[in-house]
Amino acid sequence: MQNAGIAALGLDWRYLAADVEAARLREAVDGAAAMKFIGVNLTVPHKLLAMEFVEELDETARVWGAVNTIRFEGRLDEGWTPLARLPIDYEGPVRTHGFNTDADAIIRSLNEDLGIDPRGARVVLLGAGGAGRVAALRLAAEGVGELFLVNRTVEKAESVRAEIGERYPAVNCHVGYPKERHADLLLNATSFGLRPEDGSPLDEDAFPIDGASRVYDMIYRPAETPFLKRAREAGVRTANGLGMLLYQGVKALEIWSGRPAPVETMRAALQANVYGPTD
Ligand code: ATR
Repeated sequence: MQNAGIAALGLDWRYLAADVEAARLREAVDGAAAMKFIGVNLTVPHKLLAMEFVEELDETARVWGAVNTIRFEGRLDEGWTPLARLPIDYEGPVRTHGFNTDADAIIRSLNEDLGIDPRGARVVLLGAGGAGRVAALRLAAEGVGELFLVNRTVEKAESVRAEIGERYPAVNCHVGYPKERHADLLLNATSFGLRPEDGSPLDEDAFPIDGASRVYDMIYRPAETPFLKRAREAGVRTANGLGMLLYQGVKALEIWSGRPAPVETMRAALQANVYGPTD
């Protein structure tokens, strides 16, 4: 996805994957800065660790408490400028600037892939782990009407509800399934559904799948989890998490390059990479 986007922008960059031990993350990021990398993406568990040491935290990283995108910046006159905009022979200090592009990608994907505006919506959210917590907070920030948090370990859902109560007191947030069996959106943010032997994370005795107008699963591989299959067979409009992956990457490329990213090129590359060529 990133290499396709980079090529379409005509940039002479490469996007590479590297497996870094958590204990050596700082060294790896310092090394990337020393090599004048444009930026890096981070995934679990590095997103939380990077909060501790990036030199500048963007508002998005501060608010959502995780860094998934770093931009390296050099000193130009009195300010800091992305390395992408500095001459190739720049010599001088390089600082790390941390961003979060995951949280907004949830909202964009719900909007573009399912036609959902979370404002005022009634949402049932399954999962209160890392992904579930950010989804809950981001939906609360968007002004969701009512939010029902469901998690196998109830204490984690309670703790997310407490955080929402403090940060977004106007949001009507509950732990457990709603008694009235309808919702605008049923969203799976658990990891249950990733493995072939997994079933659906939804307790259908507590909430019928067709009680939701729309169903979203953050899992994108397999493309259709048992949960999404149940929803589709019940006639509910569905989407998987590929859109979230796409839009966090789109935003990251825009942060690094300072230019609009070629979304459709990146989407096609991502789909081909994750699901195989379609023709
Ligand atoms: P992530 O970063 O993907 O959110 P995580 O923080 O480990 O990863 O969270 C995983 C989520 O999936 C949690 O909500 C977890 O429930 P618990 O908090 O009770 O552990 C949920 N999950 C994982 N396996 C599950 C299963 N078999 N049934 C129900 N929920 C499950």
